[in-house]
Amino acid sequence: MSVATQRQEPATTEGFNAHSAPIQHRERNYQQYPGSSYILPSDEEEQARLELQHRVLIRALGNRLVLAPTTVKSGDHVLDCGTGSGIWALDLAKEVPSDVHIQGIDIETRLFPTTKPDNAEFAAATATNLPEGWANKFALVNQRLLIAALKSSEWPVVLGEIHRSLAPGGWVQLLEAKRWGAEGPHSVKHRALLELLFSSRQLLIDCSVQLPKMLEETGYKNVRVEEYKLPAGRWAGQEGIDVRDNFISVFRGMKTPILKAGGLGYVNSEEEYDQWMDDMAKEWDDMEGTTVDICVCYAQKALEV
Ligand SMILES: C[S@@+](CC[C@H](N)C(=O)[O-])C[C@H]1O[C@@H](n2cnc3c(N)ncnc32)[C@H](O)[C@@H]1O
Repeated sequence: MSVATQRQEPATTEGFNAHSAPIQHRERNYQQYPGSSYILPSDEEEQARLELQHRVLIRALGNRLVLAPTTVKSGDHVLDCGTGSGIWALDLAKEVPSDVHIQGIDIETRLFPTTKPDNAEFAAATATNLPEGWANKFALVNQRLLIAALKSSEWPVVLGEIHRSLAPGGWVQLLEAKRWGAEGPHSVKHRALLELLFSSRQLLIDCSVQLPKMLEETGYKNVRVEEYKLPAGRWAGQEGIDVRDNFISVFRGMKTPILKAGGLGYVNSEEEYDQWMDDMAKEWDDMEGTTVDICVCYAQKALEV
């Protein structure tokens, strides 16, 4: 694909929505939850990617599942919001006492684990409206990578729902992507496309930057942020290859929403998009220093609210 290919439409979301016809392509399975803007697939390929992503993240975080300054104790309840394949919850179950109750929720049940320990449960629910009965229940709430799911208007709602569901003194930990890719033309152009895609669906591409303030405004105490830079590309050995493969797969998974929106003025065919992703992966391999940056924000519900 030529990098010189320029956008053909004006840079307004109205522009492409009104005029662009969907581009034919092989579609993967996507969630159908009413009103959801989530743009990644829910299929076997995505399940495998989530496994890889979990390994990549856990390695970057020093093999820690719990980043918040707390210890999960016997009898505690833990919630994993947007659990996906439940891999974080299942791994947590292996390292906490067997009477810790672990609950995973997701709008899409297709990726839920088929085998699980007795103390783990998975249920269909949205983070924007957690069950009434969960007030003051959880000692820890984990939520990882809902950047491509939650609209700007939904983030404060979700943080409020988690706050309501936390036990007094309980902790929330949120992991989000902050910045990714090289300073080469394929990556720079792709970041511009994603900004347009996200804004067209009211998604908050810079949620990681906004989270600390949103947490404080929701009433959380002890808000802390940790940043990690994950080397991405062949230049960083197997670790860099894994990071590259995971995140380039994320972008491949966004192909359907992009092509359904007519390519958003950036791409004209499935083949062009696929080639772009191949070129971008090579760019990460060739540009030493390429990283994917993530943020972990954690915060506490006051003991007395
Ligand atoms: C990128 S995946 C991450 C999965 C998991 N947190 C992990 O790190 O392995 C995002 C997940 O959020 C789910 N999701 C999207 N919107 C949601 C919502 N409003 N409430 C709950 N889950 C949601 C998606 O179905 C998907 O499984």
